[in-house]
Amino acid sequence: MTVRKNQAKLTPEEKRAFTNALLELKRTGVYDRFVSAHNSFLMADSDFGNRVAHRGPSFLPWHRRFLLDFEAELQKVNPKVSLPYWDWTADRAPDSSLWAADFLGGTRRARDGQVLDGPFAYPAGKWPITAGVDARQYLRRGLGAGGVQLPTKAEVNAVLAMAEYDAAPWNSAANGFRNHLEGWRGANIHNRVHVWVGGHMASAASPNDPVFWMHHAFVDMLWAEWQARHPKSAYLPAGRTPQVIDLHSPMRPWNNVTPADMLDHRKFYTFDTEGAAAPAKP
Ligand code: CU
Ligand code: CU
Repeated sequence: MTVRKNQAKLTPEEKRAFTNALLELKRTGVYDRFVSAHNSFLMADSDFGNRVAHRGPSFLPWHRRFLLDFEAELQKVNPKVSLPYWDWTADRAPDSSLWAADFLGGTRRARDGQVLDGPFAYPAGKWPITAGVDARQYLRRGLGAGGVQLPTKAEVNAVLAMAEYDAAPWNSAANGFRNHLEGWRGANIHNRVHVWVGGHMASAASPNDPVFWMHHAFVDMLWAEWQARHPKSAYLPAGRTPQVIDLHSPMRPWNNVTPADMLDHRKFYTFDTEGAAAPAKP
């Protein structure tokens, strides 16, 4: 069973295994297929197309499945690798070990945001951006340069305390946990992290930056935490709702995956905070 770990606790070997698997997926073209797939949902021709992945109730189950598909590709390269999560309430500075040259790299040029060190630096030659928002092929960041701070634990706790998963009109104007976590209302949690990292992460082609997976692995973990805190709260809407992904609506691009299939992460992985899974009943 896959265990997803806090990135701050990875050993040097685990960090290297993860970044090497990313580089291998980049080399074979698999990585850029994921970037394009995410891109096409943000650029969807219809508002509904966009709202399968973002600005709607299925934001969380859509990204859970997207991450699972990506993690499965990493594990084809190295079965020992899992997606680490980045707890940005704790590791909240541009000099965190996450951004060191032995992991994601972080040193960047002021004038254009080009990442200059680490395995994804353009001069290292292994991370050309081909599915970007413009022709520039180098990875860009602006850690903390966008004038925002990363969300705090108190801000996250306030959102986790919300008992209702989502509410009409089920979009970026909705009240409820999902929209507050996604960030269109209230303290702006998930969206703000994209802005704080800046560069590609603040663009429609955000998965070009490998930190995308670690950010979303933490958002995914917060969903699991919310479920544990509110055992009586369920995914909403439960019943048919026009132009909204309800509990049993298939989600594109998979078409055979519904939010109901994604509710229990323990079918797929656990987090290092959860301890061993309960033994299976005979
Ligand atoms: Cu997304
Ligand atoms: Cu995101």
